[in-house]
Amino acid sequence: MIRAEIPTPALLLDLDAFDANVTAMTGVVSAHGKALRPHAKTHKCPEIARRLVRAGAVGACTAKLGEAEVFAAHDVRGLLVTTAVVGEAKAARAATLARLAPDTIVVADDVGQVAVLDRAAKHAGVRLRVAVDLYFGRTGVAPGAPALAVAQAIAAAPHLDFAGLQAYDATASHTFGAEARRARTTGTMGEAVATRALLEAHGIPCPMVSAGSTGSYGVDAAIDGLTELQPGSFIFMDTDYLQIGGAAGAAYDDFRPSLSVVTTVVSVHGDEAIVDGGFKAFATDRPYPPVPVDRPDLSYAWAGDEHGRIDMRRATRRLAVGDRLEFRAPHCDPTVNLYDEIHALRGDDVEAVWAIAARGKSQ
Ligand SMILES: Cc1ncc(COP(=O)(O)O)c(C=O)c1O
Repeated sequence: MIRAEIPTPALLLDLDAFDANVTAMTGVVSAHGKALRPHAKTHKCPEIARRLVRAGAVGACTAKLGEAEVFAAHDVRGLLVTTAVVGEAKAARAATLARLAPDTIVVADDVGQVAVLDRAAKHAGVRLRVAVDLYFGRTGVAPGAPALAVAQAIAAAPHLDFAGLQAYDATASHTFGAEARRARTTGTMGEAVATRALLEAHGIPCPMVSAGSTGSYGVDAAIDGLTELQPGSFIFMDTDYLQIGGAAGAAYDDFRPSLSVVTTVVSVHGDEAIVDGGFKAFATDRPYPPVPVDRPDLSYAWAGDEHGRIDMRRATRRLAVGDRLEFRAPHCDPTVNLYDEIHALRGDDVEAVWAIAARGKSQ
């Protein structure tokens, strides 16, 4: 199959850009002696996880247990579930997962839930690896003494093994401007590293401090005491990330956009063309619409579940019914979650079609 034959709307991956992004990230992370456990919430695709492991990653982060179950079933190991596993039913699933993939790590931020996890591990006859999730504005327990208390509970639980700290700072990832981002992540990661030292001073070895994102990786990679980075979006990028500000100005160009959505023009009226991609083809959580690839003379506006409206008043080349138009997604993760598969392109050749096997696995 070639690009022009892919039924639309469809998700496309430019493999040259993807490979360049992987090389760029692995280069920086390994140069600083850190491990890379890329976040698979971005791609939800076992084939991509396997490629990242072949490029040197130690495994994959997942946001949810359901994603981790899919990756484990596809032989991906080194899983870190970065959202706390809460309640008896999910704890039982985590224990079952640990039987299949014993190196899986789950996180907790609450002493009561540590007890739930311990009971589930006991019941399943497994040991469960648990890390403490640190709070930097969303989930987690505050760094310092509160985190120590949860770590002590894990270390004391008969069926749990303390795995370390998870220190993702969502605010740092998208803080606008390279210097402001540096200041934010230096501060919060300093708290994470100090917490690691506190735990070790209390006799709790802390083999892992996992943190970082596409926006903050360059600073995080150089912070002593973090052991690994868990960025996700760098493999694809999106219009949101491309404008967080880089070292040399407004554009953040450490990584190349590799992800696009291809649509077909299905109707034309005067200066308006309608494409077959709307709310179901792109995530709509950002305050700006999809951006046409290499067509700054065109703009997109939402036109419903199935459609988008293209303004051709400034068009240097008009669109006709049947023409195809590609877009950068405003936000990559929730856009990918809308598709069953991703078409991996080398130039215009479809090299492979990969299942987004963990899409929709939000539990
Ligand atoms: C816990 C956690 N770690 C890492 C990431 C990766 O961040 P990014 O896609 O900004 O690189 C995310 C993204 O939301 C996350 O929730």
